[in-house]
Amino acid sequence: GDSVRQPLLAERATEEAAVSAAPTTHAALLAWVEETAALTQPDRIYWVNGSAQENAELTDELVAAGTLKRLNPELFPNSFAAFSDPADVARVEEQTFICSRDERDAGFTNNWMDPDAMKDKLRGLFAGCMRGRTMYVIPFVMGHLNAQEPKFGVEITDSAYVVTSMRIMATIGTAVLDRMTELNADFVPALHSLGAPLEPGQQDVSWPCNDEKWIVHFPEERSIWSFGSGYGGNALLGKKCYALRIASVMARDEGWLAEHMLILKLTSPENKTYYVSAAFPSACGKTNLALLDPTIEGWKVETLGDDITWMRFGKEGELRAVNPEAGLFGVAPGTGWKTNPNAMRAIAKGNSIFTNVALTDDGGVWWEGMTEEVPAHLTDWQGNDWTQSSDAPAAHPNARFCTPIDQIDMLADEFNDPEGVELSAILFGGRRKTTVPLVTQSRDWTNGIFMGSTLSSETTAAAAGAVGRVRRDPMAMLPFMGYDAGDYLSHWLKVSGQADQSRLPEIFLVNWFRRTADGGFAWPGFGDNSRVMKWIIERLEGKADAVETPIGYVPAPDSLDLTGLDLTPADVEEAVRVDAEEWDAELEGIEQWYQQFGESLPKELVNELENLKKRFAA
Ligand code: GTP
Ligand code: MN
Ligand code: MN
Repeated sequence: GDSVRQPLLAERATEEAAVSAAPTTHAALLAWVEETAALTQPDRIYWVNGSAQENAELTDELVAAGTLKRLNPELFPNSFAAFSDPADVARVEEQTFICSRDERDAGFTNNWMDPDAMKDKLRGLFAGCMRGRTMYVIPFVMGHLNAQEPKFGVEITDSAYVVTSMRIMATIGTAVLDRMTELNADFVPALHSLGAPLEPGQQDVSWPCNDEKWIVHFPEERSIWSFGSGYGGNALLGKKCYALRIASVMARDEGWLAEHMLILKLTSPENKTYYVSAAFPSACGKTNLALLDPTIEGWKVETLGDDITWMRFGKEGELRAVNPEAGLFGVAPGTGWKTNPNAMRAIAKGNSIFTNVALTDDGGVWWEGMTEEVPAHLTDWQGNDWTQSSDAPAAHPNARFCTPIDQIDMLADEFNDPEGVELSAILFGGRRKTTVPLVTQSRDWTNGIFMGSTLSSETTAAAAGAVGRVRRDPMAMLPFMGYDAGDYLSHWLKVSGQADQSRLPEIFLVNWFRRTADGGFAWPGFGDNSRVMKWIIERLEGKADAVETPIGYVPAPDSLDLTGLDLTPADVEEAVRVDAEEWDAELEGIEQWYQQFGESLPKELVNELENLKKRFAA
């Protein structure tokens, strides 16, 4: 432990100390570390090696600092709870920027500022921002270390909470640094600071952060600067910032796709296997579907990923998918023994960091929906006593669990294959109370991309702002596209030129959240979504019946397996109904949405909209 750590720990952050203590000869990395230390002026520089010993030391320090609470090891071994500043609980989309050289390349969905002006601003904020703190250097790789072209990154941060969380979410440390050095490989420099320097003698707080927050991406330079927030999506820079925003730009330039998708493997009773990816906006069911516990006989589900998918066409024109992450950063509320036992079993194995959950009196964690029985007494996420008569929820609605993915019992072996898996179907889905049927098969690939481009959802707690408003969210990538939205849709259309057309995945639109007239859910959801997955697979196999509607093919009332459910084919008919009046309003909404794109909206999609209108008019 100490013998590993001490030699790397420079006492003063002089440039010479940074270089002499560095366990690498990678010149570009050394130069960046040196330059960053000179700017941010930390007390110490520490190169993260990723070992269990190092993690134990860091979590001990975080417990001593009050940032982490160690949970009862008999309930949650090697697990911790963190409680954030109440003003630092979610991604901050208003403060997220894509600073391309040309404003046009950021597009209307992103905030933009001139890169030079932004750099000036950031340099001002970062100057001396790590005073009194340790600067951690985290070498990481998204995806496989032995992939053909490993996607390296280095995060510099002054947050030990970020280090321990990154260790769960990505492959980090010495092996990565050695490989990067050996290949003299490019890496994405990802700079993060809490923006809370400590003056000599100043008492630290348990969750340091800054009122001012900036999450900034430089797509041409492929770099990230994040200031002022310690929250996961803003601070764990390998995840949304790199694996989606920066990677989407790499993907555009290199002919692949970086998407906000889960990957799952289905095995039918005939022992045929299928791989499916699915894009739903934040807090709309990806982690739940990825860990699906089927309620129908003979079907098996395994998971490969729950949030981010990188896809590229293989040598035979097949679309292959990999999950670039190593952990789950899941929404805790609503994850329970009933709705998602697979997630609960993974969490129960320990080695997890929880953020903004409630604490039970016996040193465990709890959140709304975890168990049917609500504990009589809790400590809520803000440290207050909580009882069942309390008004506010005990856990923050965007409370998260951070857990190693290999603790999932149902993890598919293919997770470890750098070549990934061949997709048979792609799902797009949102959270809509009305209008959108439970499941709709697209007419063809272009029509499926149209569905993805018009995807809409009622807003959730995963991002700061109002909850429950309908917003368009193309491919669930609205907050994550690193470039112009129209160019992004064109890329989807163009990239399929690499495909063997007979092997292109079928595209489906799903909505687990439709309501009936009495206000209840039209479909039970969760494990019963296996019935929808069965219908989808049977459509691929040409076995299930469908009804053609103007928007695509929906299940014939008796084609969904309802065995053991308290539902009738009439209920299915209701759940998949295409209501002409609702669609009048929807078409208007889509038209308004498309008007915002300007010139870069692909013609093919305008045609799709025109054809859809004609089908409704017919
Ligand atoms: P991010 O991790 O933020 O990208 O979100 P996610 O897409 O992984 O969302 P997650 O699976 O964590 O879903 C969170 C919310 O969706 C919870 O409130 C769940 O209760 C709800 N949910 C998930 N699946 C279903 C379903 O099939 N039916 C219903 N009614 N709710 C669901
Ligand atoms: Mn997500
Ligand atoms: Mn999730």
